[in-house]
Amino acid sequence: MARKTKVIAIANQKGGVGKTTTVVNLASALSARHRAVLVVDLDPQAHATLGLGLEKQPGISLYPVLLGEKPIEDVIQPTKWTNLNVIPSEVDLAGAELEFGIREDRLEMIRNALAPVKSSGAFDYIILDCPPSLGIVMTSSLVASDGVLIPIQAEFLAMDGLALITGSIERIRASVNPSLELNGIIFTMVNSQTRLTQDVIAEVRAHFGDKVYESTIPRNVRVSEAPSMGVPVVFLDPRSRGAEAYKAFAWEFMAKNPTRFDAAEGGE
Ligand SMILES: Nc1ncnc2c1ncn2[C@@H]1O[C@H](COP(=O)(O)OP(=O)(O)OP(=O)(O)O)[C@@H](O)[C@H]1O
Ligand SMILES: [Mg+2]
Repeated sequence: MARKTKVIAIANQKGGVGKTTTVVNLASALSARHRAVLVVDLDPQAHATLGLGLEKQPGISLYPVLLGEKPIEDVIQPTKWTNLNVIPSEVDLAGAELEFGIREDRLEMIRNALAPVKSSGAFDYIILDCPPSLGIVMTSSLVASDGVLIPIQAEFLAMDGLALITGSIERIRASVNPSLELNGIIFTMVNSQTRLTQDVIAEVRAHFGDKVYESTIPRNVRVSEAPSMGVPVVFLDPRSRGAEAYKAFAWEFMAKNPTRFDAAEGGE
């Protein structure tokens, strides 16, 4: 089977917009659709790690790989769910911003670390959960990626936040990673049908066109409860509104980002 691994960074410098929730549930929904997925948790808060039911463990993260102390294969952990794997985060990653800032290869360090896994074709998608800042970890994640998926909330000044991150994408495209694409924009925590929500979504669609996913994720209490149980909501309560929305989004994502080119393997 021909499979071309896609590396997707889920990024937004703004905190609390639903990045990690989107990483966990997109990855889970894709894995349930028989896609082989590797989540890389690059946030020292390790919320993606915990949300996927794993504990933090010293020495099990991308950090020792970036230091050249471990091969990447040694830090890839299976989860309880088939096709769903994770490189966890640990508190040491918090030092990366400072420590790696002076490295000459700092922009390419994540790309180089992921290269053997990407070229092995073992995964359809490698999904990077970025920390909420425009620092070196996020920048080198964008350098390592084929596409950036931006979760945002439909709020006042949403366009300003988008301008910041799309500016970063442009700069990285113009310098170190010409193939970086804006994968898309996904609205998260959408609050019913308020006028402001509708206006913001319309404004962003007018500007970014079909880069904005048709699916939107509603605010749903089951989504916010799931992390404390270490079970993604798409597995915990697959019929909840939040889970249904993430599954529909994953379906749209898969259609837009095919990774398999053998007709016999391409379908469900
Ligand atoms: N659709 C949703 N419905 C209800 N609560 C949600 C939803 N999506 C995310 N949340 C909650 O909002 C909070 C922030 O979400 P999340 O951690 O995914 O954001 P983040 O962008 O990764 O944050 P950070 O910038 O700190 O990494 C969490 O408590 C999460 O459970
Ligand atoms: Mg997060």
